[in-house]
Formats: sequence, C-alpha cells, structure tokens
Amino acid sequence: MKNFYILFFYLISAFCFGQKQGVYPIIPMPTEIIPSTGSFILSDSVVIISNKESREAIYLQQYLKNSFSLNIKIMELNDNSISKNFPVITIYKFVIPDTTLSYTEAYTLDVTKRNIIISADQPSGIFYGIQSLIQLIPLQGKLNIPCLRIYDKPSYAWRGMHLDCSRHFFTKQEVMKYIDYLAMYKLNTFHWHLTDDQGWRIEIKKYPLLTTIGSQRKQTLIGKPSKKNKYDGKSYGGFYTQEEIKEVVAYAKERHITVVPEIEMPGHSLAALAAYPQYSCKGGKFEVGDTWGVYDDVYCAGNDSTFIFLEDILSEVCDLFPSTYIHIGGDECPKERWKTCAKCQKRMKDEDLKNEHALQSYFITRIEKFVNTKQKQIIGWDEILEGGLAPNAVVMSWRGTEGGIIAAKQKHYVVMSPGKPCYFDHYQSKNKSKEPIAIGGFNPLDSVYKYKPTPKELSVDEGRYIMGAQGNVWTEYITTFKKVEYMSIPRMAALSEALWLSPEKKNYKDFVSRLKVHSKLLDKMKVNYAKHFLIKK
Ligand code: ACM
Ligand code: ZN
Repeated sequence: MKNFYILFFYLISAFCFGQKQGVYPIIPMPTEIIPSTGSFILSDSVVIISNKESREAIYLQQYLKNSFSLNIKIMELNDNSISKNFPVITIYKFVIPDTTLSYTEAYTLDVTKRNIIISADQPSGIFYGIQSLIQLIPLQGKLNIPCLRIYDKPSYAWRGMHLDCSRHFFTKQEVMKYIDYLAMYKLNTFHWHLTDDQGWRIEIKKYPLLTTIGSQRKQTLIGKPSKKNKYDGKSYGGFYTQEEIKEVVAYAKERHITVVPEIEMPGHSLAALAAYPQYSCKGGKFEVGDTWGVYDDVYCAGNDSTFIFLEDILSEVCDLFPSTYIHIGGDECPKERWKTCAKCQKRMKDEDLKNEHALQSYFITRIEKFVNTKQKQIIGWDEILEGGLAPNAVVMSWRGTEGGIIAAKQKHYVVMSPGKPCYFDHYQSKNKSKEPIAIGGFNPLDSVYKYKPTPKELSVDEGRYIMGAQGNVWTEYITTFKKVEYMSIPRMAALSEALWLSPEKKNYKDFVSRLKVHSKLLDKMKVNYAKHFLIKK
C-alpha cells in the first residue's frame, strides 16, 4: 500500500510539473525530466569529482570560472581527501550495453540538494549533461539549480550547421564562437564551406597559388545581381592556414563536434581556376568571382591532371580533418564547357558515357574512389544523384526533400537540408523591408521548429537512412559575423530541438517560453540573435 502511495505521488507530481516543462529553460528540451523539490546551491565550496583526464570536467570548471567567477576544484574519484561534507558535482562513466549511436550520446543528470551527478557511456554524453546543467543555472540572484532528474538522448545522429566562409570570410575566432553556439545546442557537426567561386579559404601546401591568388577577389557586387551590376571596388580576401584549421578542428573536438570540410567540385571552382587555369576546359585567364551566382567555367573532367590536382588537395584535406565524411560539393555544375571541350567529349566516348550528367557522375565516382582509399566517405549535394550515384556516397538534400528520398530508397545515407526550412540565409520575417537584405525565401522560426527530417514517403526501414539534418548559412549577403548570429540564432536552436526530440514531444509554444528565458543567456553572451519571438502577436 505504501508503495502504491509513493507511485501515486510520483505520477501526480510528474504529470503536474510535466505540464510546465517550459520552466526548465533547456534547449534542446531533454527527452525526460522528472522534477523534484529543493535546489542545489552552486558556490566556491562545490567540488567537481571526475576521472583525472576528463576534459569535460575542465570545460565545466572553466565555464563556471569565466561566467560566474567561481573557483571550483576538480578532484579524482578515488581521492581520499574528498569530504562527505562537500557539495559535489560528480561526472562519471557508466556502461550502457547497447552501443547504437544515440546511446553513445545519451546521459543522465541528477540534481539533489547535496549532489549533482552526470553520467554517460561516452564523453559526448557527459558534455551534453554539462550543457543541460549550464542552462539550468539562474543568471540572476542565487545560483540555485532546481532538483530534478533528466534522462536524455538525441533522435538523430547528424545534427549539423553549415557556414559559408567563401562568399564572406570569418576569422578563426569567429568560427570558434560559431562552434560554441553549436555546442550549446548539442549539435555535433560543423560543415565548413571552404571553397567557392568567390574565394578559396584553405591553405594547401602543394598549391600555394590557391591562397595567394584564389583567396583574393578584386571587388564585390553591391546588392543583388542585375543588368546594371555595381561593385564596391574594394579588394576582399582571407584564408585559414593549416595551423589555424588544426586549431579549429581541435576546438570543435573538445566540444564533441566533427568538422566536415567542403571542397567544391566540379563546379563553384572559379577561385581555384583563377590560380590554376590549366585545370579548366578552355584554359586562359580567370579572375576570382566578384558576383553571386553560378559560373560556366568548371574543372575539366577530361583531363587526368585535374584529378591529380584534386587528389593532392584532398590528401592534405584528409590529413587535416579527422571526419569520416569529406564534402565534395557537386552542386550547380553547368555543363556548357564540357559540351564543347574535346577532352571532356573524348572521356565520354572512351568511358561510354551517354551525356554530360553521366560525365559528372564519372567525375564524382572517380573522386569517391580516391577518398575511400583514405578510409573516408564522400558526401555531396543532391545533384550527385544525376547520372547515377557514386557507390558509397552520402547525399545532402537541398533542392527540397526529393533527392534525399530517392537516395534513401537506393539505400544511401542522407542528410536533410532542404531550402525550406533549413536555409538560414532566407528571411525570417514577412516584413522584409524591416529586415537586413537576405537572399530571398521565408523560413520563420516556427517552420524550422516544426521540421521533421524523416520524410513520410519513406518506410520505417528506408527512414533509417536519414542520418539527420542541417541548417545552412550561405553568406552572399551576410558580410559580418554579427549578421551570421542574427540569421542563425534562434533558428539554430529550433533546429536543434527538431533533431533532438522525437516529433510527438515537440511543442512550439513551450519552446518559445523556454527561449524567452534562454535569451537572457544569449544577452549575457552578447549574441546578436533575432528577436522576432519576443514580439507579442
Ligand atoms: C546550394 O545551395 N547550392 C547547395
Ligand atoms: Zn574539359
């Protein structure tokens, strides 16, 4: 009978508190929160107990020092001087027998009056437990953390954000700040768009002209392309040295984020061709792009030395990035030059390729073979489906969801990133005249929140090929990092919840109420986030 009352009380309290989950301002919302009473008081007398080498413990210690001036010691689990009287935050590993990916990122967070315990099978789970804990710390008044128990794990394995650093360049420090935002929302993949027509941004030791020439453009279009284009007349450039790339990759790794580099081919390659025109179809002199859009000059698919050039580049890229996936672009490649190039036409004849789409497929498959020799996989935009998908390729579906659906049905892994609603360079308010210039479209916060990455057209088995989704931040019209923040936050937060929570647990109203509290943290961090959600409708 006693047990019955305990169970009854537990169910009633879980139900009552469950109705008001917005009171815990955690984004993305954890899978399960069981509220309790009282709070743990965070102060200098708290001790973190963990394994000696726990980078996560050090991360938490540094966060509490930088944000709240707390000087908290880290002690080892078996340190005899740990007093029973210390309030402690214990971080430890527990073994979950199931090793599916979602479990490797799972964690539990227990807050009682004397203890906080974060446990997980893997350091990534510990890190996410810490992120939830951080979001529970009040920003005003006493540092009282409400007692509760959280059990949490993500729905999707690929929780990504992209940043285009070619159209506009963002410094290493800015890129690291962006990575911090991903970490806060438990996103685990940073897709770094490093090359495009308007600028090559990664140092390649074997081909120094890629950066001395390819990273600089003479001028930039003002506003949108038109019949009477106007230019600013100012040179623009920048690139990351390999040392800087390594620093960014290490910084992301500490935050359990994989950096997936993108090296565009065969199109969007004008900056590279300005440096090494011999790898184009026509040769001649090219200039780094100064206008937005698509250029006809692309890598020559008939020239074997083009592949040697790209393989040399990819070798250096594979050495720099531990990621399993290397993004090879593949989008928006005009076939104009290939149609009139003797070498490309000869290749088509020799390889029995019936059209230029098949030639693009040949190009990507040849690159894939090389990347696979490095024990890595290629991922590409959905145009890589045209003319036949390379055998092991992963598809990033951007022109809607169709490409992703076709690829999943062919048993290829897919990352969903449809323009609607995953392009965060689109407008977020209907009141466009009051917004800074954007490329177009309309992807408001609620549309991002409501997004379901697995298309209903897929069967349960086919749906398993959807690894997750990603928000894209193309920067033709995003000239400063402050504007990157404005365009990406809070839409990044909404996407993180769409990727973390199962669809039946999502609740937009609840998200917005948490976001209002969470925005105080963004204010403290001085993030230039978009504030449309604060306006009463
Ligand atoms: C793309 O937006 N061109 C992938
Ligand atoms: Zn050619």
